[in-house]
Amino acid sequence: MRSSNIKWWIVWLLLSLGVAAYYGYALTGEDKTALLPGTTSHGHYQIELACDSCHGEAFAGGEALQAACINCHGDQLKAARDAHPRSKFTDPRNANRVALLDARYCITCHREHKPEVTDAMGVTLPNDLCFICHKDIAQERASHNDISFDSCASAGCHNYHDNQALYEAFLVKHGNEPAHLNPQRVPERNLHQWNLAVASSPATALAAGDADAPANRQLATDEFQHWVDSGHATAGVNCSDCHRQENKTWIDKPGVKICESCHKQEVSGFTAGKHGMRLAQGMSPMVPAMARLPMKAKVAKQPLDCNSCHGAHQGGVKEAAVDACMGCHDDEHSRHYPDSPHAQLWQQELAGLIAVGSGVSCATCHMPRAEVRQLGDRHVAIQHNQSLNLRPNEKMVRSVCMHCHGYQFAINALADGTLIKNNFSSSPTVEVMSAQMALARDEKRGAR
Ligand code: HEC
Ligand code: HEC
Ligand code: HEC
Ligand code: HEC
Ligand code: HEC
Ligand code: HEC
Ligand code: HEC
Ligand code: HEC
Ligand code: HEC
Ligand code: HEC
Repeated sequence: MRSSNIKWWIVWLLLSLGVAAYYGYALTGEDKTALLPGTTSHGHYQIELACDSCHGEAFAGGEALQAACINCHGDQLKAARDAHPRSKFTDPRNANRVALLDARYCITCHREHKPEVTDAMGVTLPNDLCFICHKDIAQERASHNDISFDSCASAGCHNYHDNQALYEAFLVKHGNEPAHLNPQRVPERNLHQWNLAVASSPATALAAGDADAPANRQLATDEFQHWVDSGHATAGVNCSDCHRQENKTWIDKPGVKICESCHKQEVSGFTAGKHGMRLAQGMSPMVPAMARLPMKAKVAKQPLDCNSCHGAHQGGVKEAAVDACMGCHDDEHSRHYPDSPHAQLWQQELAGLIAVGSGVSCATCHMPRAEVRQLGDRHVAIQHNQSLNLRPNEKMVRSVCMHCHGYQFAINALADGTLIKNNFSSSPTVEVMSAQMALARDEKRGAR
């Protein structure tokens, strides 16, 4: 066969595979597992059977697939000030680089169903990919002469997308900070106070006698007491506000949609991250039995929704920050947390021995307090997408560690695999050199 024939033969084969996959999917409806050309990446396998969410209904490829990636990740990359946005590569001056690697398309670097070539963060190219476009870097910067060509993004120095804690001016500004800053505290959350002020229900505290559930829908005494003591009762949120939306009939188990009517910010974070990604696709809620990470066996079937951390009637935030997580997670890192210095601080905060915000819970790192704007005002809210600052982990430097630690200490700790495993229970033994390089260059510039 001539090579052009081979090409057409491949196109035909792929098209028929695609069509067959589509009809097979449409016919069988239920079990789409058999149609998967291969399992999907760590980020996506929870929704891998929702083929349409990536491929669209017609299994179109190319721009349709690209549009799907942007639809779910576009805002996140924009907020991270993506260092390599598409616009960089539609610029004719970079055409020579695009010819080497077509970085206009996400799937050039992130393919799917290819577990054999898929690395951390769904990257399906070898980790010398940066070198393809940046092989001349040592000519511009002598400091890069002896650096191995596949270490750009693996040594805590650079990321492809998010360099917000890694750009040169930032390193110069923060490179000389001490390991511990003063004071060591995360900001206080205050969005809920604002919610309280604008709540549609009258914001007068409710007592036991005010509960408005019908007689056949009463709670056991201790569960009822949870509501009486909750922030909800204090804020005037009655049984019917959750159990009867828009005065409709009583709903026994109010879902995430109902919480959303008063807590939009939290629901949109939750559904964008790992915990809520199945609900966002209209699938059944995630349960620990579906996990690849180690989980406690006795909660295998417990669905993940707002109540799994807050309790339906408690609406608690303290239990949600550690106890809830430990109820499900059972990997080495999570199991080591209770012995860490951070956990001691958290216990001291709960006991009222140190200032509010000085403790470090699981949520302090994984659901950080972040500034949001609501009707033009700034508030500190809880980021409910626990995947947002997880990888690459330098994202935690600014959103979490630098409330309390200097830059160099934090970046060293995050680059140290032992510390991730022992949940930051010892001092870092790794030294990330980029801040020192930036400071040296800055000093030279100053001397000139
Ligand atoms: C998270 C997004 C995502 C989901 C969900 C997903 N795919 Fe894919 N799929 C991709 C990407 C990305 C490619 C790679 C396209 C490429 O390399 O050109 C792909 C490629 C394919 C191909 C072409 C095979 C190949 O090796 O090139 C088939 C067939 C396919 N997917 C079927 C499915 C089916 C069936 C489902 C549901 C059971 C599914 N996909 C779910 C993202 C997804
Ligand atoms: C329906 C929404 C949706 C679509 C479509 C989608 N993703 Fe994702 N993706 C997610 C969610 C949710 C996660 C898990 C949470 C996270 O890591 O942010 C994720 C995770 C990822 C990760 C991180 C994996 C990790 O291990 O940290 C990458 C990379 C990624 N997606 C790239 C893509 C690309 C490329 C496409 C298009 C082919 C795509 N996504 C399509 C929702 C989507
Ligand atoms: C030239 C290769 C390349 C292209 C093109 C690319 N990525 Fe990535 N992506 C990476 C690498 C490398 C990482 C690993 C973390 C890093 O270095 O930033 C990554 C990580 C990610 C992550 C997880 C970590 C994070 O920073 O949020 C997401 C989500 C992601 N990519 C989405 C996308 C989407 C969506 C597109 C298309 C708009 C895309 N990527 C295009 C190389 C690429
Ligand atoms: C397809 C080509 C291409 C690839 C692959 C590529 N880059 Fe880039 N990169 C560029 C272009 C174009 C610029 C714009 C500046 C320039 O022209 O050098 C840039 C700029 C940068 C910058 C400066 C950031 C800024 O905000 O100005 C850093 C840091 C960087 N790249 C790191 C990386 C790393 C790390 C990788 C591998 C994970 C990588 N690049 C892979 C093309 C690429
Ligand atoms: C903040 C919202 C909220 C408020 C306020 C609230 N509930 Fe609930 N309630 C829920 C949720 C969510 C569930 C479902 C829990 C689950 O899925 O197991 C639930 C479950 C129930 C159930 C069913 C329990 C079962 O296992 O079948 C009853 C009965 C109930 N609530 C009564 C009440 C009464 C009485 C009040 C007022 C004193 C009240 N609720 C106030 C959210 C609320
Ligand atoms: C009718 C509006 C309304 C509904 C519906 C509602 N909430 Fe609330 N919620 C509020 C208000 C107002 C506050 C602020 C009270 C406070 O924190 O002092 C609040 C506070 C909270 C808090 C923080 C409590 C604290 O101690 O700071 C949590 C957690 C919470 N809600 C979870 C939920 C969950 C989960 C659901 C769905 C099952 C839900 N809420 C449904 C109005 C509502
Ligand atoms: C994985 C556990 C977890 C899940 C699931 C979860 N939350 Fe939270 N939520 C927390 C933690 C922990 C805090 C408090 C963090 C802190 O104080 O730093 C919190 C805080 C809140 C607050 C108070 C916010 C403020 O700014 O004061 C509200 C309201 C809330 N959550 C609502 C929800 C709703 C609605 C859902 C479902 C979409 C939900 N949560 C799901 C763990 C969770
Ligand atoms: C009801 C059980 C349950 C609770 C409670 C829970 N998680 Fe999870 N968590 C899961 C499951 C299931 C996954 C998905 C694991 C997988 O896919 O392998 C997950 C994933 C994660 C991930 C990994 C995300 C990723 O993109 O790789 C982090 C981080 C995480 N949870 C942190 C927390 C924290 C922090 C808390 C408490 C504030 C918490 N979880 C509470 C069940 C739970
Ligand atoms: C001081 C900050 C910090 C604290 C406290 C913390 N973590 Fe983490 N966690 C991290 C970092 C950093 C990673 C690694 C991200 C990476 O590089 O992959 C991580 C990873 C994880 C993962 C993903 C593990 C994997 O193998 O993919 C889970 C799940 C998780 N943490 C849950 C928890 C739980 C549950 C707690 C509390 C019991 C907790 N973490 C406490 C910072 C923290
Ligand atoms: C609310 C403040 C606070 C935050 C946020 C915080 N830490 Fe800490 N951290 C501390 C304090 C205080 C200590 C010292 C505790 C002690 O010695 O008893 C500590 C101790 C440590 C240690 C152990 C040091 C040793 O020598 O044993 C490491 C490692 C560490 N932190 C890393 C981190 C990283 C990485 C982050 C971000 C992901 C982070 N911390 C976030 C306050 C914080």
